[in-house]
Amino acid sequence: MKKDLISMLDVKDDLEKIIDDAIEMKKGNYSQFMKGKVMAMIFEKSSTRTRVSFEVAMQKLGGHAIFLSKNDIQLGRGETIEDTAKVLSRYVDVIMYRAFSHENMKELAKHASIPVINGLDNEEHPCQVIADLMTIKEKKGKLKGLKLVYFGDGDNNMAHSLLLGCAIAGIKIKIVSPRKYWPKEYYVNKARELGGEVEIEEINENASKDADIIVTDTWVSMGDEAEKEERIKAFQGYTVDESIMAKARPDAIFMHCLPAYYGYEVAKEVAHGPQSVIFDEAENRLWAQMAILKWIFE
Ligand code: CP
Ligand code: NVA
Repeated sequence: MKKDLISMLDVKDDLEKIIDDAIEMKKGNYSQFMKGKVMAMIFEKSSTRTRVSFEVAMQKLGGHAIFLSKNDIQLGRGETIEDTAKVLSRYVDVIMYRAFSHENMKELAKHASIPVINGLDNEEHPCQVIADLMTIKEKKGKLKGLKLVYFGDGDNNMAHSLLLGCAIAGIKIKIVSPRKYWPKEYYVNKARELGGEVEIEEINENASKDADIIVTDTWVSMGDEAEKEERIKAFQGYTVDESIMAKARPDAIFMHCLPAYYGYEVAKEVAHGPQSVIFDEAENRLWAQMAILKWIFE
């Protein structure tokens, strides 16, 4: 059976192992287990971190990555996802896909005979959350029992994958978001089924109280651009600023998957301040990608 990474649920039983492998690989302990293997990376949306970290990960592991922008391949002219999956499966060993639609992600995985990795879609961003949990473990020395508070768009890929990832890792999670942007029930229910402690509320004085980790993400995800003005209005009051950080635990860390939009979801003083770990988090995408490939291929 091939291993796909479409949702955080796919790594439910192996998450801690992947995180520990990533931490080990960061120390330089890895072999070239992807030697002779090729990854096709299909991007329907822009990317800095995901593209570069996967490309460098493949190179470090002895393999090779091919960047395919949707507009440059026949998928952009109407070739079906099914045929694209079947054709790419004849050439390469693994496909990474950044897609507008979670349905298309599942369709590609269904028809590919090789593993498919979700490099972000409208519902989940599992590779990012694996890197985030690795970063938390690095900074805090543990995962279980910590409290993470996420501010902003609760109905996006990061919020959904964090709900699942925190539940699996034993981290308590609170989503602080305007009611209209609360997470999809499916993810909240799944997180609770996994034993996760989940709270959801609108912004309030004590929203960041007792938090070990404060997280935010853009208010306008790729694909939401048409709602930009409406969203900026709806999220007023949700900017992670020094007052929100001051009410968290004194040793709380600030995380953001990036790209960040300063003055909107986070104040630059926080994002570039002493509690921020955003650039370690970005670096850890590389080590986490390598551990994900190890999980798939070893
Ligand atoms: N965090 C993240 O996935 O960044 P990119 O969009 O640059 O890949
Ligand atoms: N939620 C953001 C994440 C970017 C890495 C988006 O989908 O645009």
